Amino acid sequence: HREHVGGDFDALIAADQRIEPRDAMPDDYRQTLIRQIAQHAHSEIIGMQPEGNWITRAPSLRRKAILIAKVQDEAGHGLYLYSAAETLGIDRAELLDRLHDGKQKYSSIFNYPTLTWADCGAIGWLVDGAAIMNQVPLCRCSYGPYARAMIRVCKEESFHQRQGFEILWNLMRGTEAQQAMAQDAADRWWWPALMMFGPPDTGEAAKGGHTAQSMAWGIKRFSNDDLRQKFVDMMVPQAEKLGIVLPDPDLKWNEERGHYDFGPIDWDEFWRVLRGDGACNAERIAHRRRAHEDGAWVREAANAYATKQAAKQKE
Ligand code: 3HC
Repeated sequence: HREHVGGDFDALIAADQRIEPRDAMPDDYRQTLIRQIAQHAHSEIIGMQPEGNWITRAPSLRRKAILIAKVQDEAGHGLYLYSAAETLGIDRAELLDRLHDGKQKYSSIFNYPTLTWADCGAIGWLVDGAAIMNQVPLCRCSYGPYARAMIRVCKEESFHQRQGFEILWNLMRGTEAQQAMAQDAADRWWWPALMMFGPPDTGEAAKGGHTAQSMAWGIKRFSNDDLRQKFVDMMVPQAEKLGIVLPDPDLKWNEERGHYDFGPIDWDEFWRVLRGDGACNAERIAHRRRAHEDGAWVREAANAYATKQAAKQKE
């Protein structure tokens, strides 16, 4: 346990060391981590809804078993991340209230509907692919509990992405209708997946962003645009392998840059969905609130049991 306040934090960050829960830290650092880790956890549990919608309609027992495992993993990632947030001195009940009251966000990607089975493939391949791109650097985040939670989460995410790729791989080798279904899903999920990395680093939409401060604190290791570019560079060859045409006519390899150039992102859509005007915002929060209310008896029972256990220990 490090006694020293203030200077020690700066020295640890300057030396690219870990900050642990009992270390002195600036309140802004604490609040930034509570905001990011809580919203990450909210994204995981809200993210259970789009795919959960297909568990009863998966095309085979094998697909159903894989999807159940994935949705359960997302719940586990959420619980893991709420636990990491609680090391910063806030209770998950408070964080869930903030989610339910719209005071905290979840990833906008989950406000898009899952219209066909192919969407489960596109989500695994694109959304979990983007999540991995974003979460691998977080394994080196300066805040210890968050970084350690990410190591386990990333291992499970790679299974999520591979099963999504395999769903699309099978569909693209199926009937014309199945190929069209896979292409349609990629068309609908590609641009929202690019938005997952957050607003651009420059220009109007970058206003009020946290990137500079988060990078100074070693929370963010790459800027939003850098990670987005790495994601595009990784996905284009995979789309070619699948035989899927990504819905961006400007997508082209740029030898000079050593990256793929890609078209403009519709940031108006991004901010519109963040403001609550996406296809599924109301449904996602209503479902979440209902699940929370339905789960009240479990929380009461767990608390009653914990109180009894504590009383027993005192006897
Ligand atoms: N959806 C919703 N809000 C978003 C967003 C998105 N895709 N991207 C950015 N924002 C919000 C930010 O939260 C911030 O708003 P706030 O101040 O109210 O929190 C504002 O837009 C400005 O964005 P910044 O880039 O400046 O904010 P950050 O520095 O927090 O960076 C981030 C945004 C890159 C998402 C970062 O918070 C992060 O890395 N979070 C952890 C990863 C995460 O949350 N991933 C979400 C998906 S999880 C998932 O997909 C699970 C998988 O298993 C399916």
